[in-house]
Amino acid sequence: MSRKKKDRKTNTQGFYDRIADVHNVALKINGYRASVAKYLRSLKLDLKPDSLVLDAGSGTGIVTLGFQDAGYPVKKTIAYDLSHKSLKVARSEFEKDKRANADSISTVQGNVLVLPFADAAFDLVITCGVLEYVPLDDGLRELARVLKPGGRLVFIPVKPSLVGSVLEFLYKFRIHPIENVRRISQQYFNIVGVHKFPLKEPIAWSKNVYLLERKGGTE
Ligand SMILES: C[S@@+](CC[C@H](N)C(=O)[O-])C[C@H]1O[C@@H](n2cnc3c(N)ncnc32)[C@H](O)[C@@H]1O
Repeated sequence: MSRKKKDRKTNTQGFYDRIADVHNVALKINGYRASVAKYLRSLKLDLKPDSLVLDAGSGTGIVTLGFQDAGYPVKKTIAYDLSHKSLKVARSEFEKDKRANADSISTVQGNVLVLPFADAAFDLVITCGVLEYVPLDDGLRELARVLKPGGRLVFIPVKPSLVGSVLEFLYKFRIHPIENVRRISQQYFNIVGVHKFPLKEPIAWSKNVYLLERKGGTE
């Protein structure tokens, strides 16, 4: 890996290690968890008690908790992130939360570009505000690799918007243009739907959801 690439990775990890506590408080008050839970519940996903779920770039676990709130009876959810400190905060949130089944959630540290999981290991992958840190093609290809054919990717990128631009500056990432999101998604997935959150929910100010289905299933 080139020195520049390595430094960039280390910088992102160090940045989130430093801001994990504050970032977690901000996420707790902005209602993302409830918005994600409501959306996921509305999908009526075909998940079973032996299903495996990955939250790729889970940060402090807000989206993982949103998934838990949605009430799907899965075997295991992996909260995966580059930042050790974010995962430590996430673990503590999972343990404290009365609605969550902390025993069913594992935290794993690593880079979303090199997931330490077998091909087709997961029934569902969720990723929110993470692929902005990596080349989109590399990120989506790796997420597609670990999804079962026909499995769903709930892809929640930052959308080009005023709030998105502020977040881009604060959190040091790059928003992917919508044309790229659509074009590159279609290399590995069918686009099943695009969801716009209601504007009264703060998540709507910076995010839409692309519901993607891994190609190779029964079409
Ligand atoms: C804006 S936060 C989003 C966290 C969480 N998904 C949420 O919506 O609250 C971005 C997260 O992506 C993680 N991240 C950035 N680059 C990553 C990479 N290459 N591999 C894994 N995680 C990464 C950061 O550590 C951080 O926790």
